[in-house]
Amino acid sequence: MAKIKKLNHVAVVVNDITNALGFWQKALGIKLDHVEDVPSQKVKVAFLPVGESEIELVQPTAEDTGTAKFLQTRGAGMHHLCFEVDNIDEMLSDLKSKSIRLISEEPLVLKGRKMAFIHPKSANGVLIELYQIIK
Ligand code: CO
Repeated sequence: MAKIKKLNHVAVVVNDITNALGFWQKALGIKLDHVEDVPSQKVKVAFLPVGESEIELVQPTAEDTGTAKFLQTRGAGMHHLCFEVDNIDEMLSDLKSKSIRLISEEPLVLKGRKMAFIHPKSANGVLIELYQIIK
């Protein structure tokens, strides 16, 4: 059976990364690693490592995405948490066999990682991202 290795990151959706850094970086003192534009997801992401994990501040850069709609309807706040797994394909088929609702049946392959989401309806209202680091 596939295994969860660690909590990779917790994502917080924000209106404005620069403003949000006032809290996460300046008040809490968490170091900003870098800010990345992710055009494929229509977001800008700030990466703030904390030990083995990271806080990701996610700012939508377009109006027509799930993340942008989340921000419009619910305001800034916790968006998802992400578990790193050793084998995402195995994990997804295992979850399917347990009737867990997935957002997509197949993982999305991006640079350096494969990813998929578990539907919050199956996870106590929490959107869960699964990651597998690939070479
Ligand atoms: Co994420």
